[in-house]
Amino acid sequence: MDLKRLSGKTAIVTGAAAGIGLATAKAFLREGAQVLMTDRDTQSGAAAAEALASQGAEVIFQKHDVASEADWQAVMTLVQERFGRLDILVNNAGIQLTRGLEETTLDDWRHVFGINAEGTFIGTRLAIGLMKTHGGSIVNVSSTYSMVADGLNAAYCASKAASRHFTKAAALYCADRKYNIRVNAVHPGVVMTPMLEREIVAVTADRGLPDTSAVEAEWSRICPLGIGEASDIADGIVYLASDESKYVTGSDLVIDGGHIIR
Ligand SMILES: NC(=O)c1ccc[n+]([C@@H]2O[C@H](COP(=O)([O-])OP(=O)(O)OC[C@H]3O[C@@H](n4cnc5c(N)ncnc54)[C@H](O)[C@@H]3O)[C@@H](O)[C@H]2O)c1
Repeated sequence: MDLKRLSGKTAIVTGAAAGIGLATAKAFLREGAQVLMTDRDTQSGAAAAEALASQGAEVIFQKHDVASEADWQAVMTLVQERFGRLDILVNNAGIQLTRGLEETTLDDWRHVFGINAEGTFIGTRLAIGLMKTHGGSIVNVSSTYSMVADGLNAAYCASKAASRHFTKAAALYCADRKYNIRVNAVHPGVVMTPMLEREIVAVTADRGLPDTSAVEAEWSRICPLGIGEASDIADGIVYLASDESKYVTGSDLVIDGGHIIR
């Protein structure tokens, strides 16, 4: 008997070339899913998918800017052509803009929203179209910054709050129509990925510090369980993607080592 938690399921994971997205794709493959990894970074994404496929995994890669509706259409066509159905969508791709509010332009704001909020909206809308005949699970990777704020991340915080609340509206929409599609949000706290590495450098520069050690030490201290790993988030996403969470929709899964309970 096959006891893998995602056996027979087909998934799209966006932003899968690095960090949490890559860890999620790996966890999904480990649990028996077929995975379409997408990312705007073709080089790293294709290399990662090739490496996984060479170990026997059922995985393909597609170049994809989540802010582009045309790219999303191509991704949905590909998943149908190659796998015949879609059961899971993980809207993971996101960007952070660590910048003072007075230095944040309207273009900056729109760029962040275009990826973090609009990308999640477009993907969810199109995925519902493919899933509504048989059901599915949509997981939106938001952030604890959707719940607590950070003075150097106004556009990011607001875009993640939009994604968080959109998740609840989408969950209700699907439940009201008896689509058997669940929509949930995951909120990582401070997780060691290329994004966090860039953030540490940006905060260090904003404070005029000579190196990153003080900022790294501060973040390790403010998280009761320390800085997290990408696989910690991926494990939560597997739960929400699997049938183990069949009674869970519109919920917030905070995975932050206790950061926001202080
Ligand atoms: N790392 C953290 O501490 C943390 C905390 C809270 C939330 N998050 C969220 O988790 C998600 C993943 O973060 P991460 O830390 O792995 O980031 P990361 O920067 O390490 O990786 C993100 C991936 O998304 C891709 N990407 C960026 N813009 C894209 C676009 N327009 N279209 C397609 N792909 C795009 C990048 O190329 C990259 O491969 C993001 O939504 C982020 O906001 C991360």
